[in-house]
Amino acid sequence: MQLIVASRNVHKTREIQQILGSEFAVRDLRACPEISEIIESGTSFEENAKLKALAVSRKLPGLVIADDSGLEVDALGGAPGIHSARYAGTNATNREKIDRLLEELARAGAAKDARRAQFRCVLALARNGEVLGVFEGIIEGQIADRPRGARGFGYDPIFVPKGFQQTFGELGPAEKNQLSHRARALEKLRAFLILGRGPIKI
Ligand code: IMP
Repeated sequence: MQLIVASRNVHKTREIQQILGSEFAVRDLRACPEISEIIESGTSFEENAKLKALAVSRKLPGLVIADDSGLEVDALGGAPGIHSARYAGTNATNREKIDRLLEELARAGAAKDARRAQFRCVLALARNGEVLGVFEGIIEGQIADRPRGARGFGYDPIFVPKGFQQTFGELGPAEKNQLSHRARALEKLRAFLILGRGPIKI
């Protein structure tokens, strides 16, 4: 089955392909320079996922999925949340985003055992300008006191999934892709597409 990912984030596309496996052929917008960047003007992951999937599905034929995801830290009231990609400014590096988050946590006086956080991924599936389904995945964990490991992307070096000692940055793709927020959302998408299982909303 062919899927278009409404993204130019190579890390997301790679994870989506690895998680879905060879039953799916996944491509993203890197080969479509004519499609301009979609402004994420929504106020929730779901809104942003839907608007990205809809915009691309109006321009390209076939099934389109959009992944809107981010890190929610309890001691920061759920920040960076939908602002995860731009938490330290538009062109900030992953390291700058991580540094800002650790600074904010220190400023909030978050104790070592009060660093609960979760990654959330919301996938919207669309075709020809119509949303067919929305699927959510969450993985709970803790924010590490310093970055560890260079694997993965984004905030992976500071996220320790529940039940583990290592960060996603240390664990590597095989383990991350078994349990991540993205894997959990994609399992629901797969059930919907392959088994025809509903309901359509999350
Ligand atoms: P967006 O969904 O394109 O708005 O951006 C999501 C942002 O959240 C990414 O740029 C990362 O900073 C962060 N993020 C989402 N998923 C992951 C993940 O699996 N690992 C680490 N960071 C992630």
